[in-house]
Amino acid sequence: MLRCIFLLITCIYTARSIPCAHRDFGNNGTVCVCNATYCDSTPVSEVLDIGFYIRYSSSENGLRFDETHGVFRKECSPADADGFQLDLGTTFQPIHGFGGAFTDAASFNIRTLSPGAQENLLRTYFSKEGSNYNLGRVPIGGTDFSKRPYTYDDHEGDVLLKNFSLANEDLLYKIPLMKKAFEINPEVKFFAAAWTAPPWMRTNHNYTGYGFLKRKYYQVYANYLVEFLNKYGDHGLEMWAMSTGNEPYIGTQSLSNYGSMVWLPKNLGKWIANNLGPTISKSKHNKTVILAYDDSRSRLDPFLNDIFKNKLARNYTAGIAIHAYEDATFSASVLGEIRQKYPGKFLIMTEFSAGNPQKDTGIVASASWQLAEMYILNIIENLKNWVTGWVDWNLALDKYGGPNWRQNFVNAPIIVNSEADEFYKQPTYYAITHFSKFIPPGSVRVGFVHGKKPVEAVAFKTPKNEIIVVMYNKGIADQSVTIYDPRRGQVRLQLPPKSIHTILYK
Ligand SMILES: *[C@@H]1O[C@H](CO)[C@@H](O)[C@H](O)[C@H]1NC(C)=O
Ligand SMILES: *[C@@H]1O[C@H](CO)[C@@H](O)[C@H](O)[C@H]1NC(C)=O
Ligand SMILES: *[C@@H]1O[C@H](CO)[C@@H](O)[C@H](O)[C@H]1NC(C)=O
Ligand SMILES: *[C@@H]1O[C@H](CO)[C@@H](O)[C@H](O)[C@H]1NC(C)=O
Ligand SMILES: *[C@@H]1O[C@H](CO)[C@@H](O)[C@H](O)[C@H]1NC(C)=O
Ligand SMILES: *[C@@H]1O[C@H](CO)[C@@H](O)[C@H](O)[C@H]1NC(C)=O
Repeated sequence: MLRCIFLLITCIYTARSIPCAHRDFGNNGTVCVCNATYCDSTPVSEVLDIGFYIRYSSSENGLRFDETHGVFRKECSPADADGFQLDLGTTFQPIHGFGGAFTDAASFNIRTLSPGAQENLLRTYFSKEGSNYNLGRVPIGGTDFSKRPYTYDDHEGDVLLKNFSLANEDLLYKIPLMKKAFEINPEVKFFAAAWTAPPWMRTNHNYTGYGFLKRKYYQVYANYLVEFLNKYGDHGLEMWAMSTGNEPYIGTQSLSNYGSMVWLPKNLGKWIANNLGPTISKSKHNKTVILAYDDSRSRLDPFLNDIFKNKLARNYTAGIAIHAYEDATFSASVLGEIRQKYPGKFLIMTEFSAGNPQKDTGIVASASWQLAEMYILNIIENLKNWVTGWVDWNLALDKYGGPNWRQNFVNAPIIVNSEADEFYKQPTYYAITHFSKFIPPGSVRVGFVHGKKPVEAVAFKTPKNEIIVVMYNKGIADQSVTIYDPRRGQVRLQLPPKSIHTILYK
C-alpha cells in the first residue's frame, strides 16, 4: 500500500505485515506463536521522501513491530533542552551485524519441526521480513549445548588427523540449516569457535576442566582447525572469522566444567603467532580472520595485553570477541580503553543469553519482558561502547532450555515445541530484532546526545544514508521525547512504559 501524508508527492511505501499470534503463558507477557503455515513477519516500509519518518514499536504491553508514521516539524528548531539531538559530524564504529549461534542444541530443535515450520523459523531470523540476521556463530565440534561431548578427531594420538571427520551433528543438523540460512540471506557471514581441542591433545585428557593444550600439539591443533575450514568449505560454507577458542579464561574458574580449554594469554599469543596465524594464512582460507579472546569483560584488558605483547600475534589478530555475561557487574569503559590501545582491532560481542529455567517446573519459556529489557539495555550499552556486532547464543532451544549434556540450561529467544510443531517467539526475539532488522552491516554509529529521561537511545547512518534511531523507555511511566536533526527539524514521540522503538528516515 502506498500511503501519502498531506501531499501526493510525499509518500511512504507501506508493506503488508502479518501480525503476531499472541499466546499468554500466564507470566506477565506473551509469545508470538508460529507453525508450518503461520508466522508473524514485518517487511520494512520505505520512506520515499525527506521530512517523513516511520516508527516500529514493541512493548511489554503487547505491541510487536507496531508501525506508525509522522513528519518532522521545521518550526520546532532548535532542540528541546532535554531532547535527543543527532550529530552526524561525530561518527563512531562501523557495524558488522547481528545474529545467533548454530549450536547442536539449536540445530536439533529446529530439525524436529516439520519442513514448513523449519522454513518459517529460519525465515524469521534470516529474512528481511524477520530479523535480517547476517551473522551466524558456528561451534567447531561439541559444546555444552550438545547431546554428548565430542571433537572431530577423538582418536588418541592421530597427529596426522587421518581420522578427522565431521559428525552427524554437522552433516544432518547444522550444515543443512546453515545452507538454508545462506539461501534466505546471501549476506550471511559465518564465524567459528572451538570449545576444546581433542582430549588427547590436552594436559587433563578431557573435554572440560582445567586443562591446557599440550605444547607438542600446538601445530597439530592449528592443522585440526584448518581441517574444519576445509570440510565446511567442501559444503560451500566459508568462515568469515575464527576465534582463538571459546572462553579461554573461564576454564580457570569453577565454570570450567561447561567445556572449554584453558589458555594462559602469553601462550595463546605464541600459538597465534607461530601456529594458528601462519597455518590459516598459508591455507586456501587465508581470508578467514582471527578473533582473539572470546570471553567476558572482566579479564579482557590483562588477557589481551599479554597476547599482544607478542607483536606477531597482534598482527595476525583482526578483531576481539567478547561475551556479555559480566556486563552487569563490570564497566563498559574497558571497551573504549581497548579500542584506544589497539586501534584497528574491531570489537564484536559473540555470546550472550539470559534467563534460567523456573525452579519448580524446569521450563524456560517465561515470555516475560524482563529478559527482553536485559537484551535491549545490553545491546545499547555495547553499541555505545565501540562494539561492532552483537551475536546471541542458541538460535532456538526446547522448553527446558536444552538439550545440554552438562545440564547448563538457559533461555533463548525462540523456544521449539516439537510435539505441537510450533515455535514461540519470546520478547527477547523482538528485542534483538529491533536492532538487527534495521541496522545493516556497514552502518556507522553517529552522535546522539540527550537529556536525563529514563530513555536509552542509539543512532546510526546506514550505507544508503538513512538514519536509524533505536530508543527504549525503561521507565514505568509514559515519556514524551523529542528527536532533533538540524537538517530536518524536530519530532515529538510518546513512548509508553517499557517500550522499544526503531525510527527510520532519510
Ligand atoms: C509478574 O508481575 C508481578 C508484578 O510486577 C511480579 O511480582 C511477578 O513476579 C511477575 N511474574 C513473572 C512470572 O514474571
Ligand atoms: C497455525 O497457526 C495459525 C495461526 O495461529 C492457526 O490458525 C493454524 O490453525 C495453525 N496450524 C496448525 C496446524 O496448528
Ligand atoms: C582411525 O580409525 C580407525 C577406526 O576406528 C582405527 O582403526 C585407526 O587406528 C585410526 N587411525 C588413527 C591414525 O588413529
Ligand atoms: C572429565 O571431567 C569430568 C568432570 O568435568 C569428569 O566427570 C570425568 O570423569 C573426566 N573424565 C576423565 C577421562 O578424566
Ligand atoms: C589465498 O588463497 C587463494 C586460494 O584460495 C590464493 O589464490 C591466494 O593467492 C592466497 N592469497 C595469499 C595472499 O596468499
Ligand atoms: C599484519 O601486517 C601486514 C603488514 O604490515 C598488514 O598488511 C596486515 O594488514 C596486518 N594484519 C593485521 C590483521 O593487522
